[in-house]
Amino acid sequence: MRALKSAILSAALALGLAGTAQASEGVHIPEQSWPHSGVFGTIDKASAQRGFQVYKEVCSACHSMRLVPIRTLGGIGFKDDELKALAAGYEVQAGPNDAGEMFMRPGTPADRFPSPFPNDNAARAANNGALPPDLSLIAKARKGGEDYLYAFLTGFEDTPPEGVTLMPGMNYNKVFPGHQVGMPNILQPDGVSYADGTKATVDQQARDVSTFLTFAAEPHLDARKQMGVKVILFLIVLAGLMYATKRKLWSTVH
Ligand code: HEC
Repeated sequence: MRALKSAILSAALALGLAGTAQASEGVHIPEQSWPHSGVFGTIDKASAQRGFQVYKEVCSACHSMRLVPIRTLGGIGFKDDELKALAAGYEVQAGPNDAGEMFMRPGTPADRFPSPFPNDNAARAANNGALPPDLSLIAKARKGGEDYLYAFLTGFEDTPPEGVTLMPGMNYNKVFPGHQVGMPNILQPDGVSYADGTKATVDQQARDVSTFLTFAAEPHLDARKQMGVKVILFLIVLAGLMYATKRKLWSTVH
């Protein structure tokens, strides 16, 4: 009985402590429901395609995705000729040629997305000193993953709460650590015009681009989940067979 009491007490304490830890950070990231969450969830390809459109038309002005080959988009339904056309729209540096010079050529699906700035210093110089991080793995690099991305993109406020003074060039964001962020509130209603006719609210764009960034950070997640389910099914069947065999073999022993 005493053991039980102390177990309950320590559990309550642990919960209480966890509660204060969260409260002192002060930032709550609401969990969203994503079609890709859970064991059976898969990436919503239409949403990821729209998210790519948002990345291309809005985010890529400042953010690179230098780890992602263009052909990766095949995983969200881009066809080969679409990939080729898309890639050809980018200029990538190649070379050196016979004269030892680097030159620009149209991209191919095997190329990675070109970066908007030649180097980090140039990126900082264009952004008031703040470095726009590469977005290739951002969905994995931030605690809360896509829930955080969504909360961040919809978390900007035009006027900071009373008593908060923003440093020059900074913007207020509800969930960014420290609340002062070098990125402007970039998503605007109808800021993009979706190819599939979906209404481009800020919420929709934030969801779509978060879905796209989740896919980009782990393009093979769906396939891995499917493999996992198959493996479990296989193990269940195997266990059944082994049990049946065991019964059959031992039935003659007595
Ligand atoms: C005008 C340039 C600009 C554009 C356009 C822009 N960003 Fe940013 N972004 C920045 C800068 C600068 C930072 C770094 C901010 C800092 O560290 O204070 C940043 C930071 C971020 C972060 C990291 C936040 C964190 O927790 O560290 C994410 C995620 C992000 N941007 C996503 C996006 C997405 C998605 C888009 C497109 C919808 C976008 N950004 C468009 C400039 C931009």
